[in-house]
Amino acid sequence: MIELSGIRKSYQSPGGGTVKALDGVSLNIGKGDIYGVIGYSGAGKSTLVRCVNFLETPDEGRVTIDGFGAFESRNGKLFFTPEGESTQRAAGEADLRRLRRGVGMIFQHFNLLDRSTVFENVAYPLKHTGRSEAEIEKRVLELLDLVELSDKVDNYPSQLSGGQKQRVAIARALANDPKILLSDEATSALDPDVTESILSLLKSLNKKLGLTIIMITHEMAVIKSICTRVAVMEQGRVVEEGSVYDVFSSPREVITRRFVAATSGLGNLGKLISGKSPLVKAAPDNQLVNLTFGRECVAEALISQASRKFEVNLSIVLANVDLLQDSPLGFTVVMAQGKPENIAAALDYLRASGVRVEVIDDGRNL
Ligand SMILES: Nc1ncnc2c1ncn2[C@@H]1O[C@H](COP(=O)(O)OP(=O)(O)O)[C@@H](O)[C@H]1O
Ligand SMILES: [Mg+2]
Repeated sequence: MIELSGIRKSYQSPGGGTVKALDGVSLNIGKGDIYGVIGYSGAGKSTLVRCVNFLETPDEGRVTIDGFGAFESRNGKLFFTPEGESTQRAAGEADLRRLRRGVGMIFQHFNLLDRSTVFENVAYPLKHTGRSEAEIEKRVLELLDLVELSDKVDNYPSQLSGGQKQRVAIARALANDPKILLSDEATSALDPDVTESILSLLKSLNKKLGLTIIMITHEMAVIKSICTRVAVMEQGRVVEEGSVYDVFSSPREVITRRFVAATSGLGNLGKLISGKSPLVKAAPDNQLVNLTFGRECVAEALISQASRKFEVNLSIVLANVDLLQDSPLGFTVVMAQGKPENIAAALDYLRASGVRVEVIDDGRNL
């Protein structure tokens, strides 16, 4: 649906140097995906998403979008090859206008027109599209129904809660029936329960309208809740990418592990360890081990089997089960107590059964 290839973008920093906001990003986003892009502040996420609808022009790189064609930037100059054609030409304002109508966008701070009513805000992108007043009214009411705000038609943004404002922004973004929605930290200014309701609205729009969504966020909980795939960004690069389940069950990069730990309850482990809690202090010959159970293995049975077979005590320090795209993923931290060779054999047995085994403390560190 959207293919990004070799996207680069640098800015002059006020100090005089240059900042590589995007340092060669390539991504492939499938039709109907809710594609998450996560990273800390400054990673380049907003710049990336703004390069999809050309609010920013990349310095270099190609953006191919189904239903439109291929945009290619060379040295900051933008070229366009319409879908189904083979000749490239300079991209014009009309090409960009058409693209932006087909790609909706929502923001952290909603960006509503404060002096306009809910109706006027949603009607705004429908102006100058050749529709009659009556058609515009019908469409606006339809959109407000879709986001469950029919009773707020004549309200002003200042009379709405944060969640309601974001619903207005979503209705406005969908006005021209785009196939793609870009969401830049759309839930970051909202309370957790409101976040939940906006995320479930986005998920239902994804299903109902076949909408492809790019979700920019710094919160792993958002990714976990609705995304199908995720890319992890750091310093202008994508450092890890995959299905949300795979990335959660076997994160490779340090930054990804940190994001995963923060939402899996394993974040507490860091506190326990650094606080030298006796619960997690591995005595000599004991090992503190993090076990990740994917959808193929059942936590409890394997732990007790390993314990019995190899005469090892496996006491559970922390345990948590997540549901990702309806598949369970279990995180269990155990203290393994027994003869070193027995512990090693028990851990091998767990590995062979499909459990990801990570020794956090082998008893020699503390
Ligand atoms: N218009 C701009 N001018 C100068 N620097 C910018 C501009 N936009 C972004 N940057 C810089 O580019 C980097 C990436 O920014 P951004 O894409 O906003 O990151 P994120 O959305 O992940 O927080 C940051 O170092 C930021 O300061
Ligand atoms: Mg940002």
